[in-house]
Amino acid sequence: MTMVSILDMHPIRTKIKSICAEYDNAPDQLLEILHAIIAFNKYIPEAAYQIIADSLNISRAEVYGVVTFYHDFRRDPPAKKIVKICQSEACQSMGSRKMLSDVECGMDQDVAIEVIYCLGNCALAPSALVDGKIYGRLSAKRLKTIIGAAK
Ligand code: FES
Repeated sequence: MTMVSILDMHPIRTKIKSICAEYDNAPDQLLEILHAIIAFNKYIPEAAYQIIADSLNISRAEVYGVVTFYHDFRRDPPAKKIVKICQSEACQSMGSRKMLSDVECGMDQDVAIEVIYCLGNCALAPSALVDGKIYGRLSAKRLKTIIGAAK
């Protein structure tokens, strides 16, 4: 008879195991599995590393290495609002560095300001992404207004 730990019955553990099973517990599907976990949980909790490792028969270090290599695999619960400000060449030439520092200054804790490199909106630089929507020809003042309206 197999012993079932109380942790085996935790809903997140069960969901992660089922996601791994959906991908045949295949190690080469690790990225897809991590994307699927992000889709349902918004971040990858540290406890997930060992569950994934056991399911895929790989080491916890391998899972950790992949999660930490890719910036978009969040390891903490995300802020309520996510703002990604482009810092690539076209946007920098239009003042995105100053815009970034001006917007970061005094921003609420429920807003996460992140750097991104090119949103494909270079012609309308400087650009930013606010909760998944692209905005161009921004100033710090306009971006703060957009962030405020998105709350
Ligand atoms: S450089 Fe900023 S959108 Fe392309």
